[in-house]
Amino acid sequence: MKFFIDTAGLAEIREAAGYGFLDGVTTNPSLLAREKVRDADRHIRAICALTPGPVSAEVLATDTEGMAEEGRRLAKLAPNVVVKLPLTMPGLAACRILRAEGIAVNATLVFSAMQALLAAKSGAAYVSPFVGRLDEIGTDGMGLVEEILAIYKNYSFKTEVIVASVRHPRHVLRAALAGAHVCTMPFAVISKLAAHPLTDKGLATFLTDWGKNA
Ligand code: G3P
Repeated sequence: MKFFIDTAGLAEIREAAGYGFLDGVTTNPSLLAREKVRDADRHIRAICALTPGPVSAEVLATDTEGMAEEGRRLAKLAPNVVVKLPLTMPGLAACRILRAEGIAVNATLVFSAMQALLAAKSGAAYVSPFVGRLDEIGTDGMGLVEEILAIYKNYSFKTEVIVASVRHPRHVLRAALAGAHVCTMPFAVISKLAAHPLTDKGLATFLTDWGKNA
């Protein structure tokens, strides 16, 4: 499973890349606003320079032509830009247009298996089901991921599933068990992945024991 970081924070991306297992980055307008970014194009270029992996950059337009135009502009920022389009009917039409021009699309704001099927049929390179937001309204986010993977397998779609809106390491584990292609995580979740109290306790004991021996 590929590990993406879900942030627009350059320091977080740099630190996660330093751990050696960062395969890509996903951003969205809220994440860029959180970083108080004024020049979004410049910021996306800076992110793209930090990783050779795919970097999702989202359009703001909501009509097909506007999304296609913005997508073309974003795709020119760097060779690893993936254009993020909302899963709406105009978004699906824009996806088909960009795909025909060789531009990779990440279909975002996906909350149903039917939406994911439409994204694959429209040629999206990635689809992003938002598991945390579904869990928060009392539905089963990871159940949706399993449904999407089953449908894609039935029809041999090449669209990769990015498990998004991840809240905790258990989401990451469930994503890997389900066979998701990618999990995109906030820095706070990445920081927790290796943590285990018994590892900390065991390490402290080893060091104390060796210290007594000195
Ligand atoms: O980037 C898309 C998605 O991961 C957003 O997650 O935390 O806003 O639900 P969140």
